[in-house]
Amino acid sequence: MIFTAKSAEFLRWAEEKEKNIPQNSDGILVNIHDINNVKTSEIAKIKETIYKYNSCIYSSKIALKSNTNLLKFVELVGMRTYDCNNIESNEISTITPLQNSKINYIPYTDKPLNWHTDGYYDKKSIFSWLLHCVNPATQGGENYLLDHELVLREYLLRNDDINNLMAEDALTIPESKYTSRSEISTYIFSFKNKYKRLHMRFSMRKDNIGTSAKANSAVIKLREIIEGNCAKYSLTYKLQKNEGIITNNILHGRKAFKDDKVKRKLLRIRSYERL
Ligand SMILES: [Fe+2]
Repeated sequence: MIFTAKSAEFLRWAEEKEKNIPQNSDGILVNIHDINNVKTSEIAKIKETIYKYNSCIYSSKIALKSNTNLLKFVELVGMRTYDCNNIESNEISTITPLQNSKINYIPYTDKPLNWHTDGYYDKKSIFSWLLHCVNPATQGGENYLLDHELVLREYLLRNDDINNLMAEDALTIPESKYTSRSEISTYIFSFKNKYKRLHMRFSMRKDNIGTSAKANSAVIKLREIIEGNCAKYSLTYKLQKNEGIITNNILHGRKAFKDDKVKRKLLRIRSYERL
């Protein structure tokens, strides 16, 4: 699907999308009784929320009893195959500050994370992810979320050079000697996937990322749209114990945080399936 600002196809899509904009984080919240034993009706509610808004926050009354139960839960939601490119080489990665570590990935610190989609630097696209909160930070650590389809919509309502962001070389991420990953060139927006739905690869960071000469001015406009026009759509939420977020890899970020004795601890799963 190639959208242009004036195409009837886009206008129809934009109109439909307008009906599915959550007003606040309550709009995407689903209460469940027991994450270890989720009811069919609860799974249906979660799926329906993700279908509409590309994201869902769940809140379980009962604490998660094992990582196996978390995998069972996400399988019911629709995840099947998992990205294990993390420091534990595991389906589930524990996101918590690592002290005295040689690993200097920002997710494993208490620093903020700017807007990004997961795996924008990976060859294989991440289509969905989950963050489950075991312990919240004492101060800060809120997550913020922005439906990438709303970003595309805002961009197209104002500009007609979307092709520059859909080009396969719009973004370049230089090779990483640290993870032995070679240089990657990628689109920012694409519908060329088995779902024929929007997939986005992007990060607001300015270091270690380049844009093609053709995409330069479009990327500047995109940054302004994310921080400006889309500010009204962004949802900020601090996950509490036994709560989590599941999304179709929408744009997201995290605020800096401070811990007391108990460290902030989230479990993360990334999947190759769109939900
Ligand atoms: Fe992320």
